[in-house]
Amino acid sequence: MSVPEVIAIDGPAASGKSTIGKKLADELGFLFFDTGVMYRAVTWAALSAGADLNDEAEITRLAETVIIDILPPSRADGRNCDIILDGTDITWDIRRAEVDRNVSLVSAYPGVRLALTTQQRRIGLRGKVVMVGRDIGTAVMPEASLKIYLTASTEERARRRYLEQRQRGGQASFSEVLADIHERDQIDSTRAIAPLRPASDAVILDTDGMDVDQAFIKACALVCKTKN
Ligand code: CDP
Repeated sequence: MSVPEVIAIDGPAASGKSTIGKKLADELGFLFFDTGVMYRAVTWAALSAGADLNDEAEITRLAETVIIDILPPSRADGRNCDIILDGTDITWDIRRAEVDRNVSLVSAYPGVRLALTTQQRRIGLRGKVVMVGRDIGTAVMPEASLKIYLTASTEERARRRYLEQRQRGGQASFSEVLADIHERDQIDSTRAIAPLRPASDAVILDTDGMDVDQAFIKACALVCKTKN
């Protein structure tokens, strides 16, 4: 079977992009590349350095200079990979609530996007990759032969994220998680550069009422139908 060389999966917060993308990549023997971790890593770098997140020039400089490494998982604690920032393992730090609250501010800065998108495109162009984010089909890899826009209602996505955070010991209430998702979607879809939206040739997959297996089967069917 011929399969698409580059599969782009975009969509709003907690729509299941990482879960479905990782399963798809494993099934195809492709690299799974979650571009959101790079924006999260820059946000964590800024927070832990005590930087002013509203200082666009300082945050941009940080995005241009930090070394973010994405390596195979070094331990079996639920991680898909190790995220290393300047030599330190920050795999779980980037999932903290303060990163959730600030990542959309950081990722709206054009200089930050330019720095990270350049890296992402270099990796994507190697092919055999499932890339997940907000702007993969529209800006990072517009030549992707399959573009999936994964979505679900805000309440359903908040429920998924709430359960995920609880499992990791998070204390945020459901209404806090819902408010955060709502705010992040709002910032992501209204920013000036590469806002969150489906590419004109994306297939929209609404996963409301679907479990992971059902969504995965739908995504596999799209892969089978796509030619390079
Ligand atoms: O996992 P979740 O859907 O909550 O978010 P994520 O994919 O880890 O992305 C975190 C944030 O990074 C998003 O809310 C966007 O602000 C930003 N992002 C982006 O701007 N472009 C991407 N390609 C990926 C993420």
